[in-house]
Amino acid sequence: MVHLGSRFVPEGGASGFHDVYTERENVEAYKKDGKFPDGATLVKELRAHESGDFTTGEGVSHSTNGLKQWFVMVKDSENRFPENANWGAGWGWALFKPDSKDINASTDYEADCIGCHIPAEATDYVYTQAYPMLKE
Ligand code: HEC
Repeated sequence: MVHLGSRFVPEGGASGFHDVYTERENVEAYKKDGKFPDGATLVKELRAHESGDFTTGEGVSHSTNGLKQWFVMVKDSENRFPENANWGAGWGWALFKPDSKDINASTDYEADCIGCHIPAEATDYVYTQAYPMLKE
């Protein structure tokens, strides 16, 4: 996978680095038609952070080994699993935690995910502004 971009959340339960990855071919496809192709996977990895003073400046943050969780979206243009509560709105939605990597901790994308992704509805529920390589 290639690194699409990162965000840094300074405080709260989601604090740390949000690093987002996808398969390389999705970047090329997106640049052509502005869409993630069927089967494209987006992985957002949350890592804990530490901050300190470095020769570059004060309050410099870096990620640590503290993996918090992985949020995953898989593009489904064909609405393959209408009966499955974790599939809908053109995506499969999943959440994996480091202590139970085999289990999708999301039970229902409408309850667990999409409410927070509505602001990105115009870009297929993906917050694309943090992924400059899709536009270069
Ligand atoms: C509290 C609100 C909230 C919830 C709940 C939430 N997300 Fe997100 N998600 C966001 C925001 C905001 C971003 C982009 C900014 C960031 O990472 O802080 C994002 C980014 C992502 C990304 C990176 C791609 C993108 O849209 O930029 C994935 C993948 C993702 N979320 C999947 C999920 C899945 C799967 C669920 C449910 C299990 C979920 N999210 C639940 C708010 C949320």
